[in-house]
Amino acid sequence: MKVRIEPSGHEFETAPGETLLEAALREGFHLPYSCRNGACGTCKGRIVSGDVRHEPYEAKALSEAEKAAGMALFCRAVPEGSVVVEAREIGVARDIVIKTMPCRVVRMEKLAPDVMRLFLKLPQNERLLFLAGQYIDILLKDGRRRGFSIANAPSADEFLELHIRHVPGGLFSGHVFGAMQERALLRFEGPLGTFFLREDTEKPVILMAAGTGFAPIKAIVEQTLTTDSERPLYLYWGGRTRADLYLHDLALGWAAQQPRIRYTAVLSRPTSEDHWEGRTGYVQDAIAADWPDLSGFEVYGSGPPRMIEAAKGVLAQKGLPADAFYYDAFEHAKDPVLLP
Ligand SMILES: Cc1cc2nc3c(=O)[nH]c(=O)nc-3n(C[C@H](O)[C@H](O)[C@H](O)COP(=O)(O)OP(=O)(O)OC[C@H]3O[C@@H](n4cnc5c(N)ncnc54)[C@H](O)[C@@H]3O)c2cc1C
Ligand code: FES
Repeated sequence: MKVRIEPSGHEFETAPGETLLEAALREGFHLPYSCRNGACGTCKGRIVSGDVRHEPYEAKALSEAEKAAGMALFCRAVPEGSVVVEAREIGVARDIVIKTMPCRVVRMEKLAPDVMRLFLKLPQNERLLFLAGQYIDILLKDGRRRGFSIANAPSADEFLELHIRHVPGGLFSGHVFGAMQERALLRFEGPLGTFFLREDTEKPVILMAAGTGFAPIKAIVEQTLTTDSERPLYLYWGGRTRADLYLHDLALGWAAQQPRIRYTAVLSRPTSEDHWEGRTGYVQDAIAADWPDLSGFEVYGSGPPRMIEAAKGVLAQKGLPADAFYYDAFEHAKDPVLLP
């Protein structure tokens, strides 16, 4: 089926059963997306003409009213004939090629009781070209896949670094905290997603992370440290207890080293052993309390979907335009129906 993107006028073909997003990425057209599962809403765009059918998706990602108004989730929408869609293409991602590669786990480091840092080595002479903030899908042997953000900057690409939270009953994270050993071989697809710092503006940036949402934020900060950017960065990192801020000293170090970086840590449920004298509450509420007018900011948020959903409302109330909020909601994987 033929697809035209407005306003660029770019055209491509979809294969039978293929979603708009799958075909666009295959053809090298980068549209905004994150989970590819119909859960986060990042890929939402308008169908200008033609018909699409939707694969299953979550109602929070696309309301009935939005659907009736001609909006669609491009990661779930399959064209039923020629269509014209309206979407913002992301030029800076143009050189990014999504690859499937093997890698070896060369180091495992427990950062917190429930967070493991993995360092992955690519085959000799192979490098992955990616943008700070993007993620990879670990491909499991049975066809399932699990998304994890790359925690290092592209400029330090000897290893790919991941921060994996142990999900109770989690298939892959359970393996990471159980049988997996250093030297294990994995396969992944990536880089994926469009969560990266937009450089076409000098607006001050608020970086908002909760838990392992710190991983892509770390990559973004470390990438800016390699440039002479003067852009102010206000980093907010939230967790329940002190253990959740598993690289607190690293973040304190960035702020000590660079006057343009400010770091605020926020705990929602500090324990008495934490002896916490810092901010308490939820990270999005701390941002709203500090910045009564967010109209001139960009906010980049990553972490649990409930934090992202809450932040959308709280930050919009402080004047943040919807198109100045970039996020990766750490949605859990939706497994395909696997044949026995
Ligand atoms: C773009 C993107 C980037 C991500 N980056 C990271 C990252 O850097 N670090 C990280 O730790 N995670 C990250 N995630 C989340 C991670 O992919 C999921 O948590 C994944 O499902 C974990 O795989 P698993 O096999 O351990 O658990 P699964 O087998 O997938 O999960 C078992 C059950 O636990 C529940 N569950 C799993 N994950 C979650 C969750 N996040 N929230 C609530 N319930 C859950 C579900 O009910 C699920 O059925 C990211 C997700 C996305 C979409
Ligand atoms: S809903 Fe389509 S990328 Fe998340």
